[in-house]
Amino acid sequence: MDKFSIRGGTPLKGEIAISGSKNSGLPALAACLLTDQPVVLHRVPRVRDIRTMKSLLASTGAKVDRRGSGPLSVQAERIIRPEAPYDLVKTMRASSLVLGPLVARTGRARVSLPGGCAIGARPINLHMRALEQLGARIRQEHGYVEAEAPEGLHGAAIHFDRITVTGTEDLMMAAVLAKGETILENAAREPEVSDLAELLTRMGAQIQGAGTSTIHIQGVDHLGGAEHTIIPDRIEAGTFLIAGAITGGDITVTGAIAEHLTALLLKLGEAGVEVDTGGGRIHVRSSGSLRAVDATTEEYPGFPTDLQAQFMALMTQAEGISFITETIFENRFMHVPELVRMGANIRIEGRQAIVAGKRDLSGAGVIASDLRASASLVLAGLVAKGETIVDRVYHIDRGYEKIEGKLMRAGAQIRRFD
Ligand code: EPZ
Repeated sequence: MDKFSIRGGTPLKGEIAISGSKNSGLPALAACLLTDQPVVLHRVPRVRDIRTMKSLLASTGAKVDRRGSGPLSVQAERIIRPEAPYDLVKTMRASSLVLGPLVARTGRARVSLPGGCAIGARPINLHMRALEQLGARIRQEHGYVEAEAPEGLHGAAIHFDRITVTGTEDLMMAAVLAKGETILENAAREPEVSDLAELLTRMGAQIQGAGTSTIHIQGVDHLGGAEHTIIPDRIEAGTFLIAGAITGGDITVTGAIAEHLTALLLKLGEAGVEVDTGGGRIHVRSSGSLRAVDATTEEYPGFPTDLQAQFMALMTQAEGISFITETIFENRFMHVPELVRMGANIRIEGRQAIVAGKRDLSGAGVIASDLRASASLVLAGLVAKGETIVDRVYHIDRGYEKIEGKLMRAGAQIRRFD
């Protein structure tokens, strides 16, 4: 089991290149199931979740290949097994993204229920109810969702009770081959939803309004192949910007889209971090003295839940009290006890964490629990006195491509060991 050893105290300096977005690559790969033609995807990050999705596509019968550092190409000429087996789904909840495409393409799907994960129950009831509105018959048994639409899917007006990112993506992919028009109301507005719509449109789909709360989709008979470049990973970019701020350094992330990070950039500015953007680059500089700032996670374009843990690590170094409220997931404070063990002063009251800074952190042995909580522990290690050992870094490898290499090149004293 790999671990990281981190020696804190070095201000990070220099440029860090941002990889393609994991949360855009995953739905893009699922979309390849919608056509028998080849789809070529550029800038898909080399992270564990993407490898899991590649295995999932291969298990349905699709051909998946990637030569060296080149693009990923997928061709689902024939779908032999429209299934997502438990042994794959249990490691990655986003496997539910194949539900819509498999039903739309083959008329049936058998997808293991994701089961919970560290941050919450992660149900997919909204995906299933919406698919029923498109005419699919849905059953649940033995921990699997069985969906059937022998006569194909038909358009419908769908209203999501709560905003769901992969629910929006799943239904968009089901609707593009349904007969007639589908309207998705209270849809997620994340950039990854818009990126998926861009790929589907290149494949021949007819979609209007992606990126807004109401998306219109006119079904077509079939989709063709396409070539597409995945958007940069805004969460990776945000994580490295916070790394620059927490170490009192001077970091520029390149190949990023600043508009995707407006909520975070505003918070960093309020906290006293110097921020400037332009030409695919976002630059932050911090003197090391930070002001406490409140943050409440919301669906895009609000403050992203995927940066909550990282921002909390930063607030342990800010003067004053910061109230951090998590509204999206029911259990996304796993990083708190580990940060407290490193010396942070954080109290949890329901959905709110109250961070009293500035507290010097001291290196400790800590255990990663989920993808973004582990990133927060790495950030704390970069500023803590002495050595921090982060265990179970496979959580980090799910969503960050070569994180230690990128941090090392910016001056961090971090190394991976078994
Ligand atoms: C996506 O997860 C992201 N994953 C998550 O990123 C991200 O944290 C989340 O959106 C919120 O932004 C991918 O895109 C692959 P949701 P998703 O459906 O789609 C409830 C990371 O770190 N809900 O928007 O699974 C749900 O329980 C990951 O990269 C239902 O109740 O999240 C949650 O409380 C972690 N029923 C809320 O909605 C449903 O059918 C938002 O979930 C679906 C969701």
